[in-house]
Amino acid sequence: MAASNDANANPSKPDAARDQKSPQAPMDKLLDHTYDGIQEYDNPMPRWWLTTFAITIVFSVLYVINIGPIGAGDGWIADYEKSMREYAAANPAPAGGGATPEQLNALLADASALSKGKETYTSYCASCHGPDGGGIIGPNLADAYWLHGGDIGSIYKTVAQGVLAKGMPPWEKSLKPDQLQAVVAYVASLKGTTPSNPKAPQGELVTP
Ligand code: HEC
Repeated sequence: MAASNDANANPSKPDAARDQKSPQAPMDKLLDHTYDGIQEYDNPMPRWWLTTFAITIVFSVLYVINIGPIGAGDGWIADYEKSMREYAAANPAPAGGGATPEQLNALLADASALSKGKETYTSYCASCHGPDGGGIIGPNLADAYWLHGGDIGSIYKTVAQGVLAKGMPPWEKSLKPDQLQAVVAYVASLKGTTPSNPKAPQGELVTP
């Protein structure tokens, strides 16, 4: 308190440090309070600081205005959801989730994938669908009639998810993704072949 009282009592008393820098500078007012013996002058905030501060205020107003539903713009959330919708529209989810029809169709031209698919078919599918896809308990897979869709995406979905109520098991969990894709491609490749003992057509005629 002694220092501040001194300053008040004698406001014109020059500060040694300031005098050294600029002897002519008018005296700034020394503020009344003392923090741990430290006093400060009543200087204005520097202009650059005030300008920056004003800019942040202007920015915050514009920012709030652009946030839906408070403001005028759609806002970031609506923006984000719009982008997600656009992305989803441009990249439709593949039937069954795991592989796109393009990927599966590409396997149709891949002899090694088809032979892997045939192995899987012989081990897991032939017991119900016949060794050449003619059908036993399960329907004929070589004809043009399909219960659950004959395009490769639908076949993938049926094989992955199964039709449990009708006795077709889901294979998504028991086959590895590449095995699943290969066996789907193999089934699709049976289209138009003539099994030795074909079961009567079931389902809808699917024309390519
Ligand atoms: C336990 C017997 C069984 C096994 C094993 C089986 N399926 Fe099936 N599958 C069926 C039955 C039954 C259906 C007919 C489902 C219905 O009526 O909706 C079917 C339907 C299908 C269909 C749809 C046919 C259509 O007309 O839409 C495909 C494709 C298929 N199975 C592929 C496979 C593949 C590939 C495998 C081996 C990974 C396999 N199935 C193993 C019994 C089986």
